[in-house]
Amino acid sequence: MAETIKVLIPEKDVDERIEALGKKISEDYAGKQIHMICVLKGGVFFMCELAKRISVPVSLDFMCVSSYGDATSSSGVVRIAKDLDESIEGKEVLIVEDIIDSGRTLAYLIEVLKKRNPKSVHLCTLLDKPERREKEVQVDYVGFEIPDEFVVGYGLDYAQKYRNLPYIGVVEGLE
Ligand code: IMP
Ligand code: MG
Repeated sequence: MAETIKVLIPEKDVDERIEALGKKISEDYAGKQIHMICVLKGGVFFMCELAKRISVPVSLDFMCVSSYGDATSSSGVVRIAKDLDESIEGKEVLIVEDIIDSGRTLAYLIEVLKKRNPKSVHLCTLLDKPERREKEVQVDYVGFEIPDEFVVGYGLDYAQKYRNLPYIGVVEGLE
């Protein structure tokens, strides 16, 4: 059977939710500057949309971490494929991620970043699958909690495909 995509969260709902998150984050960080750290590649679509809706000053940096594993689950072993360009010392860091699944990637990343003496570290994720959690992670801002299904779109991929879908979908017909 060929792969097909079923819409789980339509584009309009994603846009509205990001708008609300941007407003809340802007209120919470009033008078401060946010250093947004995008977790590549998945977080990039969300980060761009979110950053445009934040009204306090922001600076951006990117990190690429990959967890060794098969296509649809992470092994818990995390490798930094691309580190940040700038120091985060004394900065108000906001990590922007596409999805928290087992929590292993972010638990590791937060630990690494905290050692670099930022002023604060908070976490914003577009999607959260709380049922799948293996490592506890404090998630400060969540777009949507979703059930345990493999999703694509808005940065999320299946075998590097579907990142550019402007909505969140579920892949059906996987072998
Ligand atoms: P964790 O370490 O298990 O929390 O996995 C985090 C990473 O696994 C995410 O940043 C995604 O890249 C990937 N991932 C987890 N669930 C999904 C999914 O449903 N679709 C696409 N990628 C996913
Ligand atoms: Mg990711």
